[in-house]
Amino acid sequence: MAGGRFAMTPSKVFQMSPLQSTIMKNKLDQLKKKKEEALLGGGKERIADQHKKGKLTARERIELLIDDGTFEEIGMLVTHRSHAFGLEKQKFLGDGVVTGHGKINGREVFVYSQDFTVFGGSLSEAHAEKICKIMDMAMKVGIPVIGLNDSGGARIQEGVVSLGGYADIFLRNTLASGVIPQISAIMGPCAGGAVYSPAITDFVLMVKNTSYMFVTGPNVVKTVTHEEVSSEDLGGAMTHASKSGVAHFACENEIECIDHIKKLLSFLPQNNMDDVPRHTCTDPADRKDEKLNSIIPDTSTKPYDMKKVIHSVIDDGDFLEVHQEYAQNIIVGFARMNGMSVGIVANQPAVLAGVLDIEASTKAARFIRFCDAFNIPLITFEDVPGFMPGTDQEWHGIIKHGAKLLYAYCEATVPKITIITRKAYGGAYDVMNSKHIRGDMNFAWPTAEIAVMGPKGAVEIIFKKEIDKAEDKKAALAQKVQEYTDKFANPYSAAERGYIDDVILPDETRTRIIRALEMLETKVDKNPKKKHGNIPL
Ligand code: HXC
Repeated sequence: MAGGRFAMTPSKVFQMSPLQSTIMKNKLDQLKKKKEEALLGGGKERIADQHKKGKLTARERIELLIDDGTFEEIGMLVTHRSHAFGLEKQKFLGDGVVTGHGKINGREVFVYSQDFTVFGGSLSEAHAEKICKIMDMAMKVGIPVIGLNDSGGARIQEGVVSLGGYADIFLRNTLASGVIPQISAIMGPCAGGAVYSPAITDFVLMVKNTSYMFVTGPNVVKTVTHEEVSSEDLGGAMTHASKSGVAHFACENEIECIDHIKKLLSFLPQNNMDDVPRHTCTDPADRKDEKLNSIIPDTSTKPYDMKKVIHSVIDDGDFLEVHQEYAQNIIVGFARMNGMSVGIVANQPAVLAGVLDIEASTKAARFIRFCDAFNIPLITFEDVPGFMPGTDQEWHGIIKHGAKLLYAYCEATVPKITIITRKAYGGAYDVMNSKHIRGDMNFAWPTAEIAVMGPKGAVEIIFKKEIDKAEDKKAALAQKVQEYTDKFANPYSAAERGYIDDVILPDETRTRIIRALEMLETKVDKNPKKKHGNIPL
């Protein structure tokens, strides 16, 4: 264009009259002032209060979470529209939530961060609209949403419009479920409606000593049920991580919490149409760990730590355990195999002999459904004596809760690999990703015992009369136990039928899983067309 019609020297283009330059300067100053005001949220005093409580501000949290210089704020100048209780005189730019998008380790995400310094982070109509706006955009572009929650619930002065705002968010959380990953960090008191949006999302992280989740706080509890309970006991991080299972991670502090979000995200795809993430792997695919050949104790009732098996098999022993404190008789979490993200589900013989109870079943079922929704292959390590017997379990519905685990495995169409290390007894054999429910590659170690039940229990039923009649009952029992063990407490009956694809040496487990995953990379499996299934809830 040089020398063309529109050619002008730069000085000519930007030359302004003195009057014009004052108007422009005023406009720029006005914007600068507004942005400075927005950056202060509820003001310096409330920021100091937030720090005194050992908490970071909404913006400091975003700064830690998002890659330097990549955060693009949306809705910084939004204010509420309420006139009730003199609210029109208390307006704060941004209205108690910072929203926008940015990168985490180079990958785009949407984030909202509630600002406790503005009306206690409570949710107004405008605050809810800001969250809904980024959720709608996240769904259009297919990227995760991370919520940093620090909120006193519905903004009381706004009444029903704030309740409506919550419902608008719940609907979006539900529609986004299984489409984009949704992660909620609880970084302060979250009461009332503030707990239900996180509960619908995929993962909840809490910070010890500074974050709480409850539908109603200790004062209401005292009035209604006459129980005296502290906030920490009622809804603190450890309560929800170990007792209720509402929280998947309990973090020592906010910095650890933010690091956990980043790590968790590194295992996840951007959306349900995306390929599973792959990282460069320096851990050899053919690495063998001979220690695995002697990890199973000689006596089948003796415990061992399944986490040692997991750590030995996965890339670099790098395991992100989910729900570490809850239902420890089953282990779930993310790892990588030759660089590819996988979900691990493993019975833990070191806790309650690895039995399946209500908590273990629901914990694993939810994890399996997450992995299946986001195309993350599942690896199952199995050593399970069966479902937990007893009135407590039966009356609380082990049948329907155990069925959730069965349903989740049956429904999952991602690559599914099983390694039976020792016991696979009874219904639990079927449930833990058996060949019959579409396990793709099912391996057993030579130490596997695949049977309807354990040898002693079995012979006491089927040879009861014979043993009772015997002169030396103890010897008769021992002989029958030996017979049963030789016949069933091994992997070979199942292998003869093809229920096991191969009996493998423990030290070759890593290599065999990686080869199976490579083969399964192009797997396509579909469920019948339906609106949705009816999982036993
Ligand atoms: C408006 C609120 C607020 C709320 C707190 N604030 N919660 N303003 N609506 N829900 C304001 C306070 O007035 C105060 O303002 C500031 O935030 C800080 O609150 P403090 O109480 O001083 O802080 P703290 O002692 O740390 O206690 C935090 C808290 C407590 C535990 C969250 O504020 C609290 O119990 N709030 C109410 C919780 C609640 O019941 N929410 C409604 C739930 S009903 P100033 O100006 O003094 O700084 C609900 C229905 C939805 O959510 C249901 C959907 C399913």
